[in-house]
Amino acid sequence: MTQTSTPFPDGFLWGASTAGHQIEGNNVNSDWWRREHDPAANIHEPSLDACDSYHRWAQDMDLLAQLGFTDYRFGIEWARIEPERGFFSRAELAHYRSMVEGARARGLRPMVTLHHFTVPRWFEDLGGWTADGAVEAFIRYVEACAPVIADGVGHVCTINEPNVLAISAAADRTGEPAWPSTGGAITPDEKTTHALVAAHHGAVAAVRRINPAIRVGWTVASQVYQALPGAEEATAAYSRPREDVFIEAARGDDFIGVQSYTRTRIGNNGPVRAPEDVERTLTGWEYYPGAVGYALRHTAEVIGDGTALIVTENGIATADDTRRVDYYAGALEAVAAAMEDGINVEGYLAWSALDNYEWGSYRPTFGLIAVDPVTFARAAKPSAIWLGGLGRSRELPRGA
Ligand code: BGC
Repeated sequence: MTQTSTPFPDGFLWGASTAGHQIEGNNVNSDWWRREHDPAANIHEPSLDACDSYHRWAQDMDLLAQLGFTDYRFGIEWARIEPERGFFSRAELAHYRSMVEGARARGLRPMVTLHHFTVPRWFEDLGGWTADGAVEAFIRYVEACAPVIADGVGHVCTINEPNVLAISAAADRTGEPAWPSTGGAITPDEKTTHALVAAHHGAVAAVRRINPAIRVGWTVASQVYQALPGAEEATAAYSRPREDVFIEAARGDDFIGVQSYTRTRIGNNGPVRAPEDVERTLTGWEYYPGAVGYALRHTAEVIGDGTALIVTENGIATADDTRRVDYYAGALEAVAAAMEDGINVEGYLAWSALDNYEWGSYRPTFGLIAVDPVTFARAAKPSAIWLGGLGRSRELPRGA
């Protein structure tokens, strides 16, 4: 029999996440736009108009609020705010300020991501994160975001998935595959790791200068490295540069964002591909809803100081929405179990609010809300109604 319980306390964040480049469309001044139009980059398809959320953000927020969500994580685009080095666009800052106010007017608490994978073209031309002056340039951008975040923003994420950025930097440099799902086991680029940690610490200080009441942190990709028997030491060594150093760099922050989708099993020779017969999602990852529970436990253990955790991304790319509901039900059970074991979790934000541009392709649909690519019409999927509804009832079906 299905039982219900209410593991999520008052004030618990209940939301969905997006990223600027993946939904706004026409982010033409960014490094990603350039890459999407470079034949040598071998990108399946460009983002183009994406979900046109640059113009339709109000519709997105209306829907999320109506569905029952209380929190919305969205990104603001550095490439729009600082289109040329040192020129900060008042118009773009006003645009993002309207989004903050629009969220609050609808009863959605905004969580703002300052950097989600994309940089302005001029920043890339200077040499990216490891160039002289890169960290200072990022901090100046964060300071310039004061008009957007100074009032009414409860949470700010500085840099999204710095570990993914450092792994991608190594892959770009060497041409090796980056991810275990494509046979990769590359070590993150160390200089990029150091630059990102410095940029994060500088950004945290800048956000606190803007308004010390803002809760600030960064969001780390948890790959849920699980040791095969006898490979415990190899797994710990594998996790360290790819994940743990980024978690440790969050000590002293107001929260750390935990983002997980699947697991990666590690043997003594590195990642071991899941057996052919496991269920896979549209990204090719193993269907593994319990991942987020492991991710929370690992993050809490590594950070070790009781810093609050927020699940800032968790979800599944599938064309079968019933499978999405199953995935979220399993994931939420794992979150509730971690909380019952005393892990300090302050919120859960699903990835993603919308079917969006999945860094090279529109095919992996992570969205709770479908978007018509021609008319941009939005349609909430049954999973959105189900997950949003839990935001109202806060009741989790157990053993469903
Ligand atoms: C990123 C998102 C991405 C999602 C699914 C995370 O790595 O932050 O931008 O769409 O995972 O791949």
